[in-house]
Amino acid sequence: MNINTHLAAMPAGYLFAEVARRVKDYQAENPGVELLRLGIGDVTRPLCPAAVDALKQAADEMGTFEGFHGYGPDFGYDFLIDAIIAGDYAPRGVKIGRDEVFISDGAKSDVGNLQELFAADARIAVTDPVYPVYVDSNAMAGRLGDYVNGKWTHLIYLPTNAENGFVPPLPQEKADVIYLCYPNNPTGTVLTKAQLQAFVDYALANDALIIYDAAYKAFISDENIPRSIYEVPGAKRCAIECCSFSKTAGFTGTRCAYTIVPRELSYQGGHFNKMWGRRQATKFNGVSYPVQRAAAAIYTEDGQKQIMESINYYRKNAQVIREGLQKAGVQVFGGVHSPYVWMKTPNEMKSWDFFDLLLRKAHVVGTPGEGFGPCGEGYFRLTAFNTLEKTQAAVQKIVDVL
Ligand code: MLT
Repeated sequence: MNINTHLAAMPAGYLFAEVARRVKDYQAENPGVELLRLGIGDVTRPLCPAAVDALKQAADEMGTFEGFHGYGPDFGYDFLIDAIIAGDYAPRGVKIGRDEVFISDGAKSDVGNLQELFAADARIAVTDPVYPVYVDSNAMAGRLGDYVNGKWTHLIYLPTNAENGFVPPLPQEKADVIYLCYPNNPTGTVLTKAQLQAFVDYALANDALIIYDAAYKAFISDENIPRSIYEVPGAKRCAIECCSFSKTAGFTGTRCAYTIVPRELSYQGGHFNKMWGRRQATKFNGVSYPVQRAAAAIYTEDGQKQIMESINYYRKNAQVIREGLQKAGVQVFGGVHSPYVWMKTPNEMKSWDFFDLLLRKAHVVGTPGEGFGPCGEGYFRLTAFNTLEKTQAAVQKIVDVL
């Protein structure tokens, strides 16, 4: 039996599993200590009433002969697809067809699974630092070569850091697939339309695909910053967009997301919309009827108001982190159109060392920048998803330790 040697040889644990492991070990040694968690981007505010009501109503329907739903449509119910098109795209002048929307259980699984569309030897480019799923999932499929001194030998890294204002350069060698995430995880920074246009132009000129992760678009507060890559001319011919209800509406435990695969996307005669539909119909069981009803409910007037209350709450937390650290002389980035604040570690400290220092001395959990890629070394990520009180307490403790 020949095993997947690429998967077997994966370095260390998945970033957030590794963080959780270290935190668990620390808690086992120090059971009395209360930790302030600003690590993984998991939400803390409850589902909004509109979503809860829709869930309850759908559960009641499921208990009746008339309202029972078995297998749903392969790519999601029209009531949710129509709500997404009308709520997220039409107001921004973007035309999306029903057959271009694929409902799923998460942007993480979609960005991992989308690679079944491209060849085993496709050249991958990522911004650095980057959400580790894009890299790890391609490494498991054997596309990235060997992991040497913290870098994959066959991966194209696009460094984004304070020096280039967190605007990634275009690939210098030919990339087949470019992963972009904006607002960015982990740096919390955004790109303007013109900056995104440069990537779309590159993709069109080089027969490349962009996988655009827009999981944090609900945090954008400036109308001029694109929420969808399809606001950029030409993007429907070169980009797939992944969106999620996790951070928009607190669905991290409820699970619902969607991916747009435009009909125009065609490479070597392969139509990605059809290919993705074929893949999903074969391997994915869909999202449950009550959860799709709950997701659709966030597009109602009440639902929109309610989810914005939570988003504004998290925005306030991000401001508390930014301003608290800035006052203490720390260099911070992001956190304005994003729930993530990206800070420079003090005195060029290694990011895992800073993680350990904060865990032990401040009892604060964050995420070390190096876990997001080589250019994340010397940086640290804090999330705005905890309560205001705990966020304030965490910032104070970090400042005290600094
Ligand atoms: C994060 O902390 O980066 C996110 O929670 C990751 C995710 O959504 O999977």
